[in-house]
Amino acid sequence: MDDLGTLETLSQEQIQRRVAELGEWFHNMDLKGVKTAPQHFLGDYPAVKWRRFADRIPADLHGRSVLDIGCNAGFYSIEMKRRGAERVLGIDSDERYLAQGRFAADVCGVDVEFRNLSVYNVGALGERFDIVLFMGVLYHLRHPLLALDIIHEHVAGDLLVLQSMQRGSDQADQLQEDYDFWQTEMFDSPGFPKMHFVEHKYADDWTNWWIPNRACVEAMLRSAGFDILERSEQEVFICRRGTPPYGPGVVYPARGGSR
Ligand SMILES: C[S@@+](CC[C@H](N)C(=O)[O-])C[C@H]1O[C@@H](n2cnc3c(N)ncnc32)[C@H](O)[C@@H]1O
Repeated sequence: MDDLGTLETLSQEQIQRRVAELGEWFHNMDLKGVKTAPQHFLGDYPAVKWRRFADRIPADLHGRSVLDIGCNAGFYSIEMKRRGAERVLGIDSDERYLAQGRFAADVCGVDVEFRNLSVYNVGALGERFDIVLFMGVLYHLRHPLLALDIIHEHVAGDLLVLQSMQRGSDQADQLQEDYDFWQTEMFDSPGFPKMHFVEHKYADDWTNWWIPNRACVEAMLRSAGFDILERSEQEVFICRRGTPPYGPGVVYPARGGSR
């Protein structure tokens, strides 16, 4: 089954059978006419999301390297490769999804490398990438800001494309550098950065841990050292790796001293 030549010539019936064998899919891929998750609760996902910001990503990625963190079945990895990226590495912590990704890429005839690796361990790659995709993962983490710090410290080379579910207000208040101890009204503003902690489950999913509002996503990105170039879509931010506000090379920023 892992012979690329064979996979590229599979019939629709064979693809359909293998898709079913690979378990439940989150990505609704189109594998030569076979849809992998046609009943997805978000519709034709992530194609519907991708269409809303695809034109904001460089159309020609020749010579560029891409790291797709939390790649799932490789929808975005495959799109990057289709744009000519020289090297695309998709990582995920779930072997089931990686198996789906390998199959999808093979059927599509694109060369994507898939590895089982957690975002917390990307330092082990010892490599920076021109584009890092961090789509739909932030709110699945118990330690989301740590993940952003690690990405900045170890793998982000130039652009970071981040997507996060958001809940709460879409307002983003202008924040002050500091607030007096007795000043508290800003905490009640819907546009102040807020992170909602999910102790049990959200949307029947116990892996939804922290759900930020828009202001919080933006503040966290800045705090981890990413300059936000644009909000391409309600949930999608394109950023450039910049200087962390608490001093370069610090994965666990300690306030004070360096400011
Ligand atoms: C909601 S899916 C998003 C998939 C894809 N990036 C997208 O935007 O369509 C979240 C993915 O993140 C992966 N994931 C969760 N925790 C992770 C971690 N610590 N490191 C790497 N991947 C992780 C899950 O296995 C899953 O494939």
